[in-house]
Formats: sequence, C-alpha cells, structure tokens
Amino acid sequence: MKIGIDQIGMATPAFYLDLIELAQARGDEPEKYTIGIGQDQQAVAPSSQDIVTLGASAANFLSATDREQIGLIVVGTETGIDASKASALYIHDLLELSPWCRALEIKEACYGGTAALMMARDFIAAHPQQKALVIAADIARYGLASGGEVTQGAGAVAMLVSTSPRLLALQDDSVVKSGSIMDFWRPQYTDLALAKGKYSTEQYLAFFQATWTRYQVETGLDLNDFAALCFHLPYTKMGLKALRTALPAVDEAKQAALKAHFEASCQYSRRIGNLYTGSLYLGLLSMLELDGHLQAGDRIGLFSYGSGAVGEFFSAELQPGFEQQLHAVAHQHLLDSRQRLAVAEYEAVFTDKVPYGPKDYQANSKYFAGPFVLTGVTDQERQYQRL
Ligand code: COA
Repeated sequence: MKIGIDQIGMATPAFYLDLIELAQARGDEPEKYTIGIGQDQQAVAPSSQDIVTLGASAANFLSATDREQIGLIVVGTETGIDASKASALYIHDLLELSPWCRALEIKEACYGGTAALMMARDFIAAHPQQKALVIAADIARYGLASGGEVTQGAGAVAMLVSTSPRLLALQDDSVVKSGSIMDFWRPQYTDLALAKGKYSTEQYLAFFQATWTRYQVETGLDLNDFAALCFHLPYTKMGLKALRTALPAVDEAKQAALKAHFEASCQYSRRIGNLYTGSLYLGLLSMLELDGHLQAGDRIGLFSYGSGAVGEFFSAELQPGFEQQLHAVAHQHLLDSRQRLAVAEYEAVFTDKVPYGPKDYQANSKYFAGPFVLTGVTDQERQYQRL
C-alpha cells in the first residue's frame, strides 16, 4: 500500500521586508545577506497572523470530501499560542473539519513538521480509508538587530496524507538521530529564539552526515539513486553547505544536476525566509513547482533537522501526474502581490504583538489580510475570523 502526500499547500503573510534594505539599515554588506546567508526577502507577520491563521490558509485546498475523511489533524510548530490547547483545534474549527477526528499539536523545534508527517503516515497505515492533515506552521523571530534577524520568516505548509497519493509516496526508509544539545531553544518567558548560530550550523551538518551515512549503509542506496535532495532551510546557504558535503561522491554531471534541483528548492525560501517546521516542505514545494526537470518515479531525499536536536533522512517517490497537484502560478501570485514594508514599518509591526498577559488586545486592522485573521484577544480568548 502506497502512503504519502496527496496535496500540498502553502501560506505566508501579505507583507515582506527587502533584505538589501535591512542590510543597509543594520550597516551590513547586502551581499552578506543575499549571497553569504542566501536570502533576498523576509515575510513579516503582523499580530493578526499566527500559526492558526497561516496554518488554516495553507490548507485552503481541501474539498468537502477531504474534510469528511480527515481523521487526524496534527500541527507541528514551535510558535505555540497556548501551553495547553492545541492550535490544531482552532484550525479544525476554521476549516470546518469533521468532529470525528483527532486534533493535536507536536513540538520539536524545526523537526515538528516531519514528526507530524511520520505520525500521519502511521495513522493512514492503520486507517487506510481516512486522510490525515499535517500542518507545519511557524513565525521565526530572533529580535530586531539580532544576529539571527536575517534568518527570520513566517508561514505554513499543509500536506494531505492518504493512500494512493497523487504527489509523493513516502518510503519506509527513515534514519533518525536524537541527542540533547543546546544549539537553539526558546524559554517560555520570551517569543524570541535563543541560538548559538555557529554551533547550530555545525550540529545541523553533523546530524546530516550521521543520518545520511547510516541511511546509505542501511538501504544500500547512494547519491546516484536520488534525483534530488531537499534540506531544511533555516536560510538557503545552510542547505547548500549540507549538499556540498555529499556532492564529492558523484561525478560532475550528477553534481550539476543536484545543484540545479537544489537551486529550485531555494526559491520560495529566498523570498519568505525561515518557516522553522515548514522550511523543509516549503523547499520541497518550491522544487516541485519551479524545477521543471523532475519526473514520475524520481526518488527525492529529504533531510529534516530540529535543533535540540533531532535529524531525520528519508525519501519519497514522485507519482505519475504529480504536476497536476501543483499550483506554481497561484503561489507566484501570492508572493508577487505581497506589500513591501520599509524597515521602520517592519520594526513597528514586529513590536506590536499579542501581549504575554491577561489584558484584552486588538490587532491593527490596517494589516488584516485573508483568508483568516486573529482580530484580537478578549477575556483571554483568541478571536479568529474568516475575512
Ligand atoms: N559577501 C558574500 N558573503 C559574505 C559577505 C559578503 N560581503 N560577508 C559575509 N559573508 C558570508 C560569510 O563568509 C559567511 O559565509 P559562510 O557561512 O559560508 O562562511 C556568511 O556570509 C555568514 O556570515 P557570518 O559572519 O558567519 O554571519 P553571522 O555571524 O551573522 O551568523 C548565522 C550567521 C546564520 C549563524 C546567524 O544569522 C544566526 O545565528 N542565525 C540563527 C541560527 C540558525 O539559523 N541556525 C541554523 C541551524 S538550524
């Protein structure tokens, strides 16, 4: 029985920051951001957008039949909006899913989306008549003028998992490594991540090398068996660094092909920034929609990394007719129609946030953009609305 991704969607706020302008404002060379880090633009989330509104927007592709058949909705996130109630329940409500459904939230830094996807695969193996909705949603915040500011971003990716998937069949070949390290974390008193930037980069590469090496031993496959590799992209240069460690194993023509596919996988991230849990899947979507050289039967390798840390390498096989499940034109329009914010306005939007406290809060309606918004908080209850 084939199980995998039948449909995939994305969402990102309607506002962005130009990173050349940010570099100038911070006194950095623009090439450091665009070449050294590999980012051109960054999504800016107003307080009316959170993981619920973004997650629900990403899943806007669901049909009435899908809504009936979804027996599991899992949100992978590290930008939780409540310590108890799962964001999946708010999304379940906004999307009007069937009540006969499990709804929960999963956390392990940027690995949460993959954990959710693997849980969905296991759920479908046990309940092949049903479907599972996986949502990877995050708002990456490091702070104004912080070392990580250039690697912020916001958005969500939604994936519908089922039997006979029309897009990608997940292979049962995961190699997973876990170990407690302090490379990136966020204490509960702050909405800004703490990161040991260089150390997290080293750990990402070490986890990739460890899982990729073991994967080859366990499966007997090597890089020549893969049409393309996709990486978790906290910033696109990070994935490139990992890819470069694997390339020497193959000839120059194969290296060039892998680099070209990788370049296609970076395009959405270059314009949106870090989605934390969603970044790997945004890269996958970017590659599928913009590459143009992939074909049914191709094996795609995926490396997921969540600081703290868990790393997983697995693969998926492109299914016949996969092109019909993609929406490149709509996604291009989504990105092109965003409003650019000047640095000063970005700073004001960044600072206007739902308070960590019991007071009522009203989000600024100037930044309301659909399909879903958080209008505010009343009596400590979050208020959502479809525009
Ligand atoms: N032209 C081209 N490249 C330039 C440049 C210029 N003018 N100036 C600097 N660079 C390059 C550097 O050589 C470096 O490249 P390298 O990594 O290939 O060596 C890159 O730009 C970044 O410069 P660096 O000085 O290392 O940046 P930084 O000290 O600001 O740190 C991060 C960068 C990514 C570590 C930092 O933004 C961060 O901490 N981010 C959050 C943590 C994170 O995302 N971790 C990822 C793992 S999950």
